[in-house]
Amino acid sequence: MIRKDMKKNDFSTQFKWGAATSSFQIEGNIDTDGKLESIWDRFAKTPGKIKDMEHAKVACDHYNRWKEDFDLLENLGVNSYRFSISWPRIVQSDLKQTNQKGIEYYDKIVDDLLSRNIDPFVTLNHWDIPQEFQDRGGWVNRESIKYFLDYVDIITNKLGDRVKNWVTHNEPWIIAYLGYNEGTHAPGHKSLDKTLAVNHHLLLSHGLSVPIIRENSKNSQVGIALNLNPAYPASSSQADLEAAKLFDEYFNGWYLEPLYGKKYPKNIIKSWKDDGKLTKDLDFIQDNDFKIISEPTDFLGINYYSRAIIRCSKTEQHNNLPVEIFPGEKTKFDWEVFPQGLEELLVRINKDYSPKSIFITENGASYEDHNAQGMGDFNDIKRIQYIESHLDACKNAINEGVPLKGYFCWSLMDNFEWAEGLNHRFGLVHVDFETQKRIPKNSYKWYREFLVNGDSILNT
Ligand code: FCB
Repeated sequence: MIRKDMKKNDFSTQFKWGAATSSFQIEGNIDTDGKLESIWDRFAKTPGKIKDMEHAKVACDHYNRWKEDFDLLENLGVNSYRFSISWPRIVQSDLKQTNQKGIEYYDKIVDDLLSRNIDPFVTLNHWDIPQEFQDRGGWVNRESIKYFLDYVDIITNKLGDRVKNWVTHNEPWIIAYLGYNEGTHAPGHKSLDKTLAVNHHLLLSHGLSVPIIRENSKNSQVGIALNLNPAYPASSSQADLEAAKLFDEYFNGWYLEPLYGKKYPKNIIKSWKDDGKLTKDLDFIQDNDFKIISEPTDFLGINYYSRAIIRCSKTEQHNNLPVEIFPGEKTKFDWEVFPQGLEELLVRINKDYSPKSIFITENGASYEDHNAQGMGDFNDIKRIQYIESHLDACKNAINEGVPLKGYFCWSLMDNFEWAEGLNHRFGLVHVDFETQKRIPKNSYKWYREFLVNGDSILNT
């Protein structure tokens, strides 16, 4: 194995080292202690939506086993932990009154993390929103934003004295495109017109929530987490170059441009219209909206898993829309392993948008883990290589002047992978979903070695 010449000392002593999870994927207990139904509970009940008809009623049972999981987290040597709050646990069915038991749960886990010197990095919306919110129009409806702001006010008021890092939304692209265009995520709609309205209202609610968070949580850092997918043309032909630019506009630019003071990219709108995919003008945009969306933040969260290689699809089913192809070494998800893309992305974001700081809020890989000799020794060497090479890319980007301040590995433990059910394992810790037994994999041991002793030894 080729080792990267990388040590913890290559990073600042202030660097946030962490692991990440999200509420729906680990907590289970979907109707415990007054929790409302979430759109993902509803979606998972609908036949054909989740692979093998899996559900997240139990998931990792983290709602009950959080102490054991935090022991693993503490032993890992991280100084930070990214997790999300389940909005349906926090409010009652009027979406206004607080559900005391739900809030007490997060209150105690925040105190526990702090007692272990682990800094909480909290995401307010990692997709499991109340079905009640959806029934009142959800993200399609501009009027519904007020419910999100009420929830943000309640939770930041309660935890804002201790939580000092806030992520408003996780991956608006996934919420909007998979939830409203492809229909493969909750709530399962298929309309590009709705998708773009959802995107806009997510960004608007982000901008509107920033001052609320700042007011309730003094001296905190606020940002949003985007899943960015840098686009590379499949060839040097003019057509492929243009297709890659279009992909970049709708996947990355659609968020980065308005968040950093501009408007939505124009070329992709024209392509969608020419292709008949977009039937209406973007009439949901109001005068002051771009000013609200570009409310200054403290950091940009980047979730990076892979790049996109794009070729022009003129000869296929579309006239002029970009199409993604997937060559090279891949993870189980078929995502190409391409750490260089992370370095190049970071350098480009810094140059084009100059965020005050950047965190890698997610990075990791799903692989088929094997249990060597039946000894419970999960030798996930590919995951180790994946993480190490991406950390090396982070180091290079920092050397090129990028203000990268932290890295959160996805994920602390195997969990419920949305529409894929229990079929993808991203964890540093293996979870046996039958017995709920946790077994640290070798990637966990590797990351621990790196975090605690400053170097990584791959004698697995
Ligand atoms: C990201 C999600 C996260 C997890 C990883 C694999 O898109 O934010 O919850 O599912 O993918």
